[in-house]
Amino acid sequence: MTHEIAVVPGDGIGQEVTPAAVEVLESLDIDFEFVEAEAGDAVKEATGEALPQETYDLAASADATLFGAAGETAADVILPLREAVDSFVNVRPAKAYPGIDAVRPETDLVFLRENTEGVYAGIEDRLTEDVATLTRVTTQSASRRLAEFACDYVEDSEHDGFTIAHKANVMRETDGLFRDTVAEVAEERGVETDEVLMDAFATHVCLDPAQFDVVVCPNLAGDVLSDLAAGLVGGLGLLPSANVGPDRALFEPVHGTAPDIAGDEVANPAAKIISAAMMLDYLGHEEESEAVQAAVETTLAEGPRTPDLGGDASTSDVTNAIIDRL
Ligand code: NAI
Ligand code: MG
Repeated sequence: MTHEIAVVPGDGIGQEVTPAAVEVLESLDIDFEFVEAEAGDAVKEATGEALPQETYDLAASADATLFGAAGETAADVILPLREAVDSFVNVRPAKAYPGIDAVRPETDLVFLRENTEGVYAGIEDRLTEDVATLTRVTTQSASRRLAEFACDYVEDSEHDGFTIAHKANVMRETDGLFRDTVAEVAEERGVETDEVLMDAFATHVCLDPAQFDVVVCPNLAGDVLSDLAAGLVGGLGLLPSANVGPDRALFEPVHGTAPDIAGDEVANPAAKIISAAMMLDYLGHEEESEAVQAAVETTLAEGPRTPDLGGDASTSDVTNAIIDRL
């Protein structure tokens, strides 16, 4: 079976780390058909459109999409691309790697963030000069869909259960519905859960991240708390993510286009290659996924390393070292 993969490098170091991930995938014994498409600042300058229709259509039909990063047009690119794959959950692992300078080296978390609603649903109003309002949307169906995904996730990855982070003591209706629905689905499925107020979580995770494992959150909380966890593991540079929908998914590093180093061929390809490992797992190639992840971890620990990690290696030196270790 051939997997059709949309490859959308975008701008800046997206153009450097995305081909590196493709090289790693090509070194495996799996049939891929890579189809490249444009998005971002450069194509906007050339054509007036940051996300050409053909790129959207490709992401909406391919088995999976590998996205790099976009510059100023990031929101015009990534939000519609997530919609193209009908992504309802954002999977964000935050793991500290051996040998990397992390604030909390014991951090090993996975955030499962609701990706379609909450305060990010986009219903805002400016009523008067003095007053602006925001309508928050929480549905039982979206909470249920996320909870089913979370249960599958902990079962497949052999985690014990998950933590629900929310603020249902204040937002009784919206976070209340979210918390109750997620807890109910977990109970039906026989998956253990505990819960924590999201503000208290922010403190606890800084003091003792090892007490948490898989964390399920509403949209805004997931965005903020996963960025906080990124700080604990040594910044955004090493973090991968997946936007998963019912039939397809999009994989991207958390970092942006890094204009300060773009073009110098020194971008760290690790976040993008770990995103590709998540794609392998999603496509059912668990063994290869683990092998890629392990090769990246060994390379982070033993080198070669790019300048952001104190080394002097290039993107391709690191990519080749990872391929050699596979
Ligand atoms: P950034 O993540 O691009 O860069 C922040 C810092 O981290 C820079 O010093 C950069 O050199 C470094 N860095 C990031 N990734 C790295 C890597 N793989 N290897 C080595 N160093 C790395 O974030 P910033 O500077 O806030 O944004 C730059 C541009 O990227 C903006 O135009 C922004 O809109 C866009 N952006 C796009 C995103 C996306 O497409 N998903 C996400 C975040 C930002
Ligand atoms: Mg964010």
